[in-house]
Amino acid sequence: MHDILPDDQKYYEKVYDTAKEIAEFYNFGRIETPVLEDSELFVKGTGSTTEIVQKQMYSLKTRGGDSLTLRPEGTPSIVRAYLEHGMANWPQPVRLWYFGPYFRHERPQAGRYRQFWQLGFEVLGEKASIIDAQIVQIYFNILKELKLENIIVEINSIGDAMCQPYYRKTLAGYLRRRESALCADCRRRIKENPLRVLDCKEEKCQGVKAQAPQIVDQLCEECKPHFKEVLEYLEEIGVPYRLNPYLVRGLDYYTRTVFEIYQEGKEDSGQNALGGGGRYDGLVKLLGGKDTPAMGAALGVDRIVAVMKNAGIKVGEEKKVKVFLAQLGGLGKKKSLKLFEEMRQAGISAGESFDRDSLKSQLKIADKYGAKYTLLLGQREALEGTVILRDMETGKQESLKLDTAVAEIKKRLRK
Ligand code: HAM
Repeated sequence: MHDILPDDQKYYEKVYDTAKEIAEFYNFGRIETPVLEDSELFVKGTGSTTEIVQKQMYSLKTRGGDSLTLRPEGTPSIVRAYLEHGMANWPQPVRLWYFGPYFRHERPQAGRYRQFWQLGFEVLGEKASIIDAQIVQIYFNILKELKLENIIVEINSIGDAMCQPYYRKTLAGYLRRRESALCADCRRRIKENPLRVLDCKEEKCQGVKAQAPQIVDQLCEECKPHFKEVLEYLEEIGVPYRLNPYLVRGLDYYTRTVFEIYQEGKEDSGQNALGGGGRYDGLVKLLGGKDTPAMGAALGVDRIVAVMKNAGIKVGEEKKVKVFLAQLGGLGKKKSLKLFEEMRQAGISAGESFDRDSLKSQLKIADKYGAKYTLLLGQREALEGTVILRDMETGKQESLKLDTAVAEIKKRLRK
């Protein structure tokens, strides 16, 4: 788990602001769920055969004996909230977005943390393919707004409750016949969830994967046109995508469309997806609600920040102020503290560096801040109840009364 220091914070804020603007445009409401939930929510929701549940959850027992887990992802919590707050009775679809910390016990490395930040968008209560395309579009737009280049979407359909079980059987049969050519994890996966083999990054399994039957060839009469429409919409709006028949995503709840978003050229490393998601038409029902289609995805904020920094993308302006307050001597410093507070209350953009004593170094900072005026408050001014106003452009100086200085500066700034 890592600290995020002020210089990096600017990037996180930029990602947040961009997502917020886009969320408002597409009419998504902000939701935040607790970082701790019942462990059962993720075991059931994320899925007991997933890496997340099997290896990566931070779980704890409370004194009362409850088992709680630090949220490893957002989707089950969103569905829990949808059910808990009766959102099924709101006008459908319900569009929600979130931005917050998530926790997975993984081996930390570049782009992979134990506490990381995700921003997510979810649409519940709509099965139309246009929603799938819109979710992909939203993520593409966020990354484009952030000036990330060469963004590409990898996409696949993994079918629904009609066709997926049939495909699983076909795939499991194929894999069983080649069991000895698979890694130990994949041999276990054949029984648990053969789709997960397609996700395996082990060198050993790549040959078997390459020859495996593909689900897109076995989609049912409803899934096939649904997927075709999603691709047609993406073409219409110009989002670059690539079909990836092995993309199954590592979470159990997905149905139909699944996608991941990459920066071109980085997609082979197996860990650099900037984001991903898909449809989860069965999850609301699985967690106790009515049959409710849903679609969503999440972006890894830490990974986006890393890409932005590597690409030299600049964020956050250097601090600029209109008025800089310089002080000299003990009494000058004392009066300055009050004057500075008065300027804040008057809404004047002002800067100071009370920690400096030399006038030269203070004026240097005033220059860096781009101040139009500098106020000088020394021992003599403090005793006389005055302050010197220096126009930073012309270098002209004049004396103002201390108690009317704020009003006078306000007047001049308005000119
Ligand atoms: P996910 O693919 O597990 O999906 O995570 C989404 C994104 O979070 C990843 O693409 C990656 O950028 C980032 N991420 C994941 N783990 C880490 C980590 N340890 N360190 C840094 N970044 C990480 C989900 O979580 C689903 N809930 C997405 C979703 C929403 N599906 C439907 N709705």
